Amino acid sequence: MQSIHSLPVDPDRLHAIAGKWGTPTYVYMEDMIRERCLLLKNLFPNFPVSWLYAVKANDNPHILKIIANEGFGFDTVSYEEVLLCLKLGTNPGDIFYTENNMTDVEMHCAAKQGVVLNIGSIGRLKSFCEAYPKSECSIRIKPDISDGHHAKVDTGNQDSKFGIRLDLVSEAVGIASESQVQISGIHAHIGSGIREPENLLTEIEVLLEASEKLRDLKFINFGGGMPIPYRNDERSFDLNRFAKMASERFRSFLDNINRPFSFYFEPGRWVVGPAGILLTQVNTVKDQGRKLFLGTDTGFNHLLRPALYDSYHEIVNISADPENRMQSYHVAGNICESGDILGFDRTLPESKSGDYLAILDAGAYGMTMASHYNRRALPAEVLITKEGYHKTIRKRKTPDETVDGFLSDTGMIRMDEKDGAV
Ligand code: LLP
Repeated sequence: MQSIHSLPVDPDRLHAIAGKWGTPTYVYMEDMIRERCLLLKNLFPNFPVSWLYAVKANDNPHILKIIANEGFGFDTVSYEEVLLCLKLGTNPGDIFYTENNMTDVEMHCAAKQGVVLNIGSIGRLKSFCEAYPKSECSIRIKPDISDGHHAKVDTGNQDSKFGIRLDLVSEAVGIASESQVQISGIHAHIGSGIREPENLLTEIEVLLEASEKLRDLKFINFGGGMPIPYRNDERSFDLNRFAKMASERFRSFLDNINRPFSFYFEPGRWVVGPAGILLTQVNTVKDQGRKLFLGTDTGFNHLLRPALYDSYHEIVNISADPENRMQSYHVAGNICESGDILGFDRTLPESKSGDYLAILDAGAYGMTMASHYNRRALPAEVLITKEGYHKTIRKRKTPDETVDGFLSDTGMIRMDEKDGAV
């Protein structure tokens, strides 16, 4: 039997969605997103902890609205993400902008909007202080703690490009005080998909200790990185255990400083990852001698994680009779590269063209990392609302719309609209 215990939606519902909106389609569950927000919000009942959602994980405006409605602010990493949140009506004070090789133009735009600017280099801090004396900012620190599900998302290690070195914090304080800039917050993010919760606790200690150098401090942001299990045999991150251990550290810190203070976390994956499925349809079954392939109508242009990080996503055939004999397949995408394999050696009930596959835990870093590679359209996105309705939250473009949009973006118009224009 293939494992379907982790399929979070009734397969009939997924069939109905595929029948109405076609594939490939990302399907999200509002209920699950709200439940997960609530779990986080209740984690530290006796502490001044607030939650920011890392927009990069899934920035569909409908999803952002749901999360904001649950009382989360936003963690953003580009001016475009800042603008997106502002245009959705978010209060600038609830937007935390962690810059990374930011341009002067981006700095001025963000400063004008009044969002909380989190600065990650001494050079940028200098230019901010020159331009905005007597203002406030936060600084990102490189804590020299290494974690993350893959080297490409390990951000806190010694050689990382992110953050200001711990030994340069005093220099940062000096630069800020020359311009009467208040460093009101410090931040770190050690990696995404943290493997060792102990590392997050060590990071908390490092930041609490670093805060002693910063007398004006009002908050510490400990970043995101909480992992989710992608494989059936992986265990969930033990939130309660983590909260208990973090609380002990928070308690002694707060007792010592004896003034109003806030802590922040900024998870992305944990909030939305399990609440999204990529639905795709098999169109080719192919015996290549040593390997049997299921060819689908999606690929790494829509879900990059397997190709980029060798990430595992559970794949369930929601159409095949579970009593069919089991077969091992490579589940392949339709992108013209041999690396476009969504799942290697997956044991599924014998499958045929026309079957629908659900690729699980695709709610985070799925659609946000999708591209038009091979000039293909992006997937549609459908939300299963908390009332149980199916709501399109992004329409799929037709091939004509996709190509016409591309031509007009590049300043060209269609040949048939104007003679000789192309
Ligand atoms: N805060 C900052 C400053 C970050 O850079 C990130 C993620 C987060 C928070 C949220 O991390 P999370 O809670 O989602 O782990 N594309 C990769 C993940 C890249 C994460 C980049 N930064 C993946 O698909 O696994």
